[in-house]
Amino acid sequence: MTTGLARLTDELGMLYGGDYNPEQWDPAVWREDVVLMQEAGVNLVTVGVFSWSHLEPRPGEYRFGWLDEVLDLLHGAGIAVDLATPVASPPPWLGHRHPESLPTTADGTVLSYGSRNQFCPSSDAYRAAAAAIAEQLAARYAGHPAVRMWHAGNEYGQVCFCDRCAERFRDWLRSRYGSVDALNAAWATTVWSQEYGDWAEILPPRVAPYHRNPSQELDFRRFGSDLLLDLYREQRAIVRRHDPDRPVTTNLMGFFGGIDPHTWRADLDVVADDAYPDPASPDAPADAALVNHLARGLAGGGSWLRMEQAASAVSWREHNLTKSPARLRAEVLQALAHGCDGALFFQWRQARSGPERFHSAMLPVAGADTAVHRGIRALGAELRALRGLVGGPVHRRVALLWDWTSWWAATQVALPTARLDPLATLQAWHRELWRLGVVVDVVPADRDDVALDGYDLVLAPAQYVLDEAAAARLDAYVAGGGRLVWGPFGGVADGLSHLHAGRSPAPLRHVLGVSAEEWVPLPDGGSTVVRAEEGVDEGLGEGPGTAATLGERTRSDGADVLATYGDGPLAGCVAVARHAHGAGRAWYVGADLSTPGGGLAAVLRAALDGAGVPRGGQVPGVETVWRGGTLVAINHTDRPVPLAIGAALRAGPAGVRDATALTDVRSGARHDVSAPLPLAPHDVVVLAAG
Ligand code: GAL
Ligand code: ZN
Repeated sequence: MTTGLARLTDELGMLYGGDYNPEQWDPAVWREDVVLMQEAGVNLVTVGVFSWSHLEPRPGEYRFGWLDEVLDLLHGAGIAVDLATPVASPPPWLGHRHPESLPTTADGTVLSYGSRNQFCPSSDAYRAAAAAIAEQLAARYAGHPAVRMWHAGNEYGQVCFCDRCAERFRDWLRSRYGSVDALNAAWATTVWSQEYGDWAEILPPRVAPYHRNPSQELDFRRFGSDLLLDLYREQRAIVRRHDPDRPVTTNLMGFFGGIDPHTWRADLDVVADDAYPDPASPDAPADAALVNHLARGLAGGGSWLRMEQAASAVSWREHNLTKSPARLRAEVLQALAHGCDGALFFQWRQARSGPERFHSAMLPVAGADTAVHRGIRALGAELRALRGLVGGPVHRRVALLWDWTSWWAATQVALPTARLDPLATLQAWHRELWRLGVVVDVVPADRDDVALDGYDLVLAPAQYVLDEAAAARLDAYVAGGGRLVWGPFGGVADGLSHLHAGRSPAPLRHVLGVSAEEWVPLPDGGSTVVRAEEGVDEGLGEGPGTAATLGERTRSDGADVLATYGDGPLAGCVAVARHAHGAGRAWYVGADLSTPGGGLAAVLRAALDGAGVPRGGQVPGVETVWRGGTLVAINHTDRPVPLAIGAALRAGPAGVRDATALTDVRSGARHDVSAPLPLAPHDVVVLAAG
């Protein structure tokens, strides 16, 4: 099957370009732009994301001449267009004529126009206007030879608590629960006298005197995601009517809580993601890899597209460090190694005005004679040379479970601790895996359309919500010979935020062979974790070490106890255990061991070894990834590294393990695998087997 993305890359190779906002510039600048784009190797630009007021200055009054000219100009220069429907930022006339189209926050504040994203997703006026402008664009430009992809809206994520959204929320609840009685049961409204007698009484979780109902909050999150998906689908359907062939997508934002991308993926012809790793964070390379693994997981393991990134600094953090061209190249090639088939930026030309005037771009305000732009040109040339990577499968054998339901529920108020941040836990586990040289897919536990049996190891660092169906899938996976590692405070609640009854994790304790009776936040400084006799064989070393934040009062119900708490409120309880279940094994890690000296790495290493998953890493800060028969070696550090590639080779796909030499894709030089590979600071070397 040719995917939406392959339809573009088959023709264009690696995609290269970015958001292009010609409405901010004179036509003379457009001409300079296309020449510079050609010189930089740009082959795709996203046009029109924020052009609504320029296309429709007054309701129903259209101005398309400038866009006709821009598209023709780009096409004449051989640059393809990802044409946006500009519905992320309605013109002032909409808010002015239809104040009810503006969004309302949970405390009742109505947000004004004068920025962007100022719409209520339920507003009939907004929806009609958004449909009308999409209709105009699709009718006019479907079939335009420049237009190869459609981009609906931008970074969907708006939330609104107005009366119209309340009505829509009630409709959504009606179709989910059928009756007010069923809703009362689902939301456990007997708690605090919240029983509803009539649909009309039900509201979004607006600001209230004290904690709100967690089931109501969770449903409102789902509803919000579905409501925006509805808007996206409306746009896509309009485009499709005029242009049935070209892919339609929108840009996701990695670990963004506003929508559940797993419920969107079937409607996205291309998985496109925006990412802005913070150059100030020492964990940026590992965390960027995690976002890439999420995108690939969303793409079902296939190719995806980086729709936005910064050429150097962003302007929305408090303090915005720049990125060197070498570092940018390392980030881009890292994404390519992880299954990305292109590099698009926000934006092509740096704005001189407006809120984003200090945000970097492919073409800085200082012009083409700049290090940033020279780096962009060199990258464009290199991407052409890397065309062979397009569509290649990323070699990975491990899955990391993560889903939005669980994230949403585990970040609600009034938990045993507010200090166990699930995303931080996921990142902490992944950073260890990254350091061990293990590539993972991020996949959701809460969907039945993701097959786990292809993975040698499945890790669940923060699976707070686990319903019976998801537990049954994990049970079957382990029983069938799979290996599972289960983290702390997992399997606690169901999909309505109700706690499971019985010893925890109730739906999975027979798989883990342990059960807990109490969740126990640990005192500052944590508790020691002591290796048990059985832990010796498992290679747990002297550790594990220290448990922080939260543990569980756990006993073994048949699992081998590998480590126990040495002191504190859980002294003597099970901290780490391993259990045979069917043909597989499950590991239980009952506390947060991810702090420095915590010992998480030892546990993960042992689980990887037990699952027969080779570890590719040996030099801190150096990442090696196999995409097809190509090894991408990335030095994320600012020092030169001689890399022994034997470990990377052993961790590679079957066909490459016995290779004696690899070919440098850039220079054509042969590299003997027994010799160390010299990697300059922030350098990336791409080596092809055979
Ligand atoms: C994205 C957005 C772009 C631009 C960029 C700046 O969130 O889609 O329009 O604002 O951030 O980093
Ligand atoms: Zn609203």
